[in-house]
Amino acid sequence: MKDKPVILVVDDQSQNIELLEAYLVPQGYGIVTAASGEEALEKLSGNSIDLILLDVMMPGMNGFEVTRRVRQDNAHRLLPIILVTSLRGTEDRVKGIEAGCDDFISKPIEKVEILARVRSLLKVKAYNDLMSHYRKDLEAEVAARTEELKQAFEKIKAASLETIYRLSKAAEYKDKDTGAHIQRMSLYSAALARRMGLDESTIESILYAAPMHDLGKIGIPDGILLKPTRLDAAEWEIMKLHSVIGAEILKGSDAEFIRMGETIALCHHEKWDGSGYPNGLKGIEIPIAGRIAAIADVFDALTSRRPYKEPFCIEHSLAVIKKGRGVHFDPDVADAFFAIKEEILTVFLIQ
Ligand SMILES: [Fe+2]
Repeated sequence: MKDKPVILVVDDQSQNIELLEAYLVPQGYGIVTAASGEEALEKLSGNSIDLILLDVMMPGMNGFEVTRRVRQDNAHRLLPIILVTSLRGTEDRVKGIEAGCDDFISKPIEKVEILARVRSLLKVKAYNDLMSHYRKDLEAEVAARTEELKQAFEKIKAASLETIYRLSKAAEYKDKDTGAHIQRMSLYSAALARRMGLDESTIESILYAAPMHDLGKIGIPDGILLKPTRLDAAEWEIMKLHSVIGAEILKGSDAEFIRMGETIALCHHEKWDGSGYPNGLKGIEIPIAGRIAAIADVFDALTSRRPYKEPFCIEHSLAVIKKGRGVHFDPDVADAFFAIKEEILTVFLIQ
């Protein structure tokens, strides 16, 4: 805050300026002077002015015009302007008010009158400044709190994602090289969802939910889950239950990504031609997240080591996906997969 209010005195007659200075300086006001409208506008932009005492009749830009221009700048919307005029007609007063002035003072200037008007308008200005600072402080405070909340929310989201990763890792600990698999599954699925044009919130849910696709394996006996040789028909029926068990574990949540996890757990082994499990859904009866996770899961299984197989090479894995287009996989999702092949191969490198 300044220690004293500063008044811009504008008059083309130097003796008028001197007179006003003689009244105002002893009252403790700072004075900036201008001999024309143009100079007044210049001085206004270079100084911190609290009030303008403005002569009306000046050569060049008159007081009305100066007032109008000052008001055009939003920063000076509330700056007090007193027009100093020898004109007494109503028309000129109306003109002054229309231009945006706050008060008038007539020539010859009375000392008592000018000091009273100046003091009164400076009080209004001080109050407006106070309110403006208060509003700015409040806005800054709200912005800071909003940022804090945003960061807290991001932290909670990151913690949720980590919890999901760890839970999924626990579920798959026995039968897979976990960790990177979980992450790849997330990233393949989210990249496919983006390419399929799903909205950001669904993409994020899929990112979070995809790792939970095999959560139900926690309910499959080790003798079946870890069997290095081919499962017999009865064992295979039990193995297939992992989709239902996973959905059962995740069902009934209020959280969107857990509900998405339920869908993906249940549907990631459904096939486009209806030959999948557990419900034999066909085509777009299979939720889109399930159709996306199906490709991501198969591609990752093909390219990874499992108890029963070595990893296949990329070319062979891509060929299997291509062959499954419209049979195992939604043709649109398969097309999306090949459209973002470069990104898929980048994710594949995460080990
Ligand atoms: Fe599975």
